[in-house]
Amino acid sequence: MTDKIAIIGFGNIAKAIITPLLDRKLILPENVFCVVNSKKSLENIKKNYIYKINVFESSSKDSKIIWDCNFKLLSVKPQQLKDITEADNIKTKDNLLVSILAGVSINKLTQKFPNHKCVRVVTNIPITVGKGLTGIAWGEKITKDQKEFTKKLFENTSKIYEFTEDYLDIFLALTSSAPAIIALFIEALSDGGLSGGLPKMLSEELVMEMILGTISLIKEKKLTTTELKNLVTSPGGTTISALRVLEKKSVRSALIESIVSASNRSKEFS
Ligand SMILES: NC(=O)c1ccc[n+]([C@@H]2O[C@H](COP(=O)([O-])OP(=O)(O)OC[C@H]3O[C@@H](n4cnc5c(N)ncnc54)[C@H](OP(=O)(O)O)[C@@H]3O)[C@@H](O)[C@H]2O)c1
Repeated sequence: MTDKIAIIGFGNIAKAIITPLLDRKLILPENVFCVVNSKKSLENIKKNYIYKINVFESSSKDSKIIWDCNFKLLSVKPQQLKDITEADNIKTKDNLLVSILAGVSINKLTQKFPNHKCVRVVTNIPITVGKGLTGIAWGEKITKDQKEFTKKLFENTSKIYEFTEDYLDIFLALTSSAPAIIALFIEALSDGGLSGGLPKMLSEELVMEMILGTISLIKEKKLTTTELKNLVTSPGGTTISALRVLEKKSVRSALIESIVSASNRSKEFS
């Protein structure tokens, strides 16, 4: 898909994005140039990462080579961005920088990397298993090839949605933060099973299979969520009794607020 790609920060998410591309030979290991902050990470990648990619410590002179790659994936933590400085003497033209940093605007990226066209991407942790969701907001003057390159980075592991930048905060809340909410749900429902005397493992398995089955039913039968709810809620029955408890405890409102809060927090970061 490209000759060379530089990766600034090779942590969990960068690995989840790049490894499937290496698996499919869409990128060759010798064409991947990544930089990490610590010697420990450098040695860990050299010793344990399944592909022999080029890896440098950020303080080393050799790491400057990354600025000669047209395509860059920026994947440090937002608070680590201050430590990254664009090289003065960039030789290549038409440089593209794809950032996955939460809450860092295209405007800020363009100011920090003036020799790059910048793209802002929000992706989520299920990309690790090829079931991710990726939202992309394009900066100015991105070429057709650069758009294609960006999409190729994510299309093997996620569904792609293109947005204007103002939607990325709510997209992040719904897709990137909400897996933690779902995990909390699974944990709490399983504890309900535990309270009823089921072993922990079995309880968790039942909850997860129930969630998968419910989603399949909604999708395959093209049901609305209200139709699904009505299907399993009989007058005076067990389900309405359970739903009453949730309404009494304002769970619906708490969930809405949790997403709004995550989105607002993302806005605060930018
Ligand atoms: N985690 C998620 O669920 C998720 C989901 C979507 C997007 N994101 C975004 O993805 C980004 C990365 O998250 P992550 O979970 O992959 O973080 P991570 O595992 O902590 O990885 C950060 C990487 O950046 C490197 N780094 C730090 N300072 C650097 C510097 N000055 N120069 C070069 N490399 C440097 C770190 O190297 P060392 O190991 O040596 O410190 C590490 O390889 C974040 O901005 C986050 O907002 C995260």
